[in-house]
Amino acid sequence: MIDTYQHVERESILYLQICKSIDVFEGKGKNFFFEEELQIAVFRVKGLLYALSNICLHQHASVLCDGFIEDLTVRCPLHGWVYSLASGQTIGSPSNLKTYKIWEEQGLVYLEKPTLHVPKWMNSL
Ligand code: FES
Repeated sequence: MIDTYQHVERESILYLQICKSIDVFEGKGKNFFFEEELQIAVFRVKGLLYALSNICLHQHASVLCDGFIEDLTVRCPLHGWVYSLASGQTIGSPSNLKTYKIWEEQGLVYLEKPTLHVPKWMNSL
């Protein structure tokens, strides 16, 4: 499915053209589903775009796109874990969500091509 997106290379990084700028609303999250374990939540706050894994580190739920945005953080709607939109840092924990480079140009949004990131705890199953 990821190969259905148009690829663009910029400064030696591959990006996917994921949507139009008008598709990402101010103060809202939007999920881009590539596969079950590869979902990226894109947010627009004060006009700027942020992209991070949509999968909460707490119970591995794919819900962060529906989280509550406050300042430059998103709060998971299930149990309230809070993540920095810019760094993916979990507030009050050393854990980090994966973040992705994202930019827009001429009304189109480009996301750093994501790769599957399997959480360490899944490797022990
Ligand atoms: S699943 Fe996100 S805080 Fe519990």
